[in-house]
Amino acid sequence: MTISAAEDIRALLKQSADEVNLALDARLADLDPCPPTLAEAMRYSLHAGGKRLRPILVLWCCEACGGDRDQAMPSALAIECVHTFSLIHDDLPALDNDDFRRGRPANHRKFGEALAILAGDALLALAFEILSEDVSDQALSVAMMRELSTASGGSGMIGGEVLDLAGQSSEPNVDEVARIHAAKTARLIQGACRLGGIAARAETSRFNALSEYGHALGLAFQVVDDLLDVTGNMEDTGKQTGKDADAGKQTYPRAVGVEESRRIADDMFERAIAALAPLGSAASRLTTLARYVVERNS
Ligand code: IPE
Ligand code: IPE
Ligand code: MG
Ligand code: MG
Ligand code: MG
Repeated sequence: MTISAAEDIRALLKQSADEVNLALDARLADLDPCPPTLAEAMRYSLHAGGKRLRPILVLWCCEACGGDRDQAMPSALAIECVHTFSLIHDDLPALDNDDFRRGRPANHRKFGEALAILAGDALLALAFEILSEDVSDQALSVAMMRELSTASGGSGMIGGEVLDLAGQSSEPNVDEVARIHAAKTARLIQGACRLGGIAARAETSRFNALSEYGHALGLAFQVVDDLLDVTGNMEDTGKQTGKDADAGKQTYPRAVGVEESRRIADDMFERAIAALAPLGSAASRLTTLARYVVERNS
């Protein structure tokens, strides 16, 4: 990417992330009658920053199909709640045992394990509260809940986390890595794109294009996450690096090396942008976003 294209996409991402953050602040202003310690733990991780990639994908995919941001915002907030829940639980001693997240102590390091588990649980529930309360069209609300629950559950992110843990006891294997990545990361990123399509009431060919884009982008995203664990640093990523190998994780760099991993990420980027063809020029921002995902350092 040229320097000016990189600056442009960063500015666009920041603008959308700011909008998401404002909407999140407003939605979380009133968590009564939630116990104050629980509300504090939920807000701590949610407001810690983060790239807001998944909510931005919801908004941009909706707009690429002719929808507007207001239609997409409930799904955008809901998926960020699920994602933040996944990060809190992923960092727990029973999973990855990580002390830092989004540039600050992990939730359980700040609030203790019990509250971290419960804050994650409450964020997952809040996601569905948002979709049930803030989407007035009932059929749309149910379709969004179906998509988000499928992307998050046993055949999606949570199932992938289980495969990820189970994989620590065997030698890195490229097919196993692909299976884990598809479930633990790509399914939720694909879910973000599909939620954007649902919000816009996209017709089938466009919806399928977003779905295919999201799958390939999600795979590319996790290859880069694995690469950043090897080549990145804590200042940029906001989390400790160099941990996957010690933990015996199934990652592309461990299975095929750094260079081949980069080639695989590039390949997935090509697949992602090829999938956008049915959307024509409406998808140009999604193409640039995909390039940012494979070139990012945070
Ligand atoms: C981290 O996701 C977890 C993975 C699926 C690799 P992000 O890198 O999107 O984390 P935030 O939201 O920016 O903190
Ligand atoms: C996590 O993958 C994917 C999730 C579902 C949270 P990682 O364990 O590699 O994510 P990081 O590196 O801790 O963010
Ligand atoms: Mg993990
Ligand atoms: Mg982790
Ligand atoms: Mg990682």
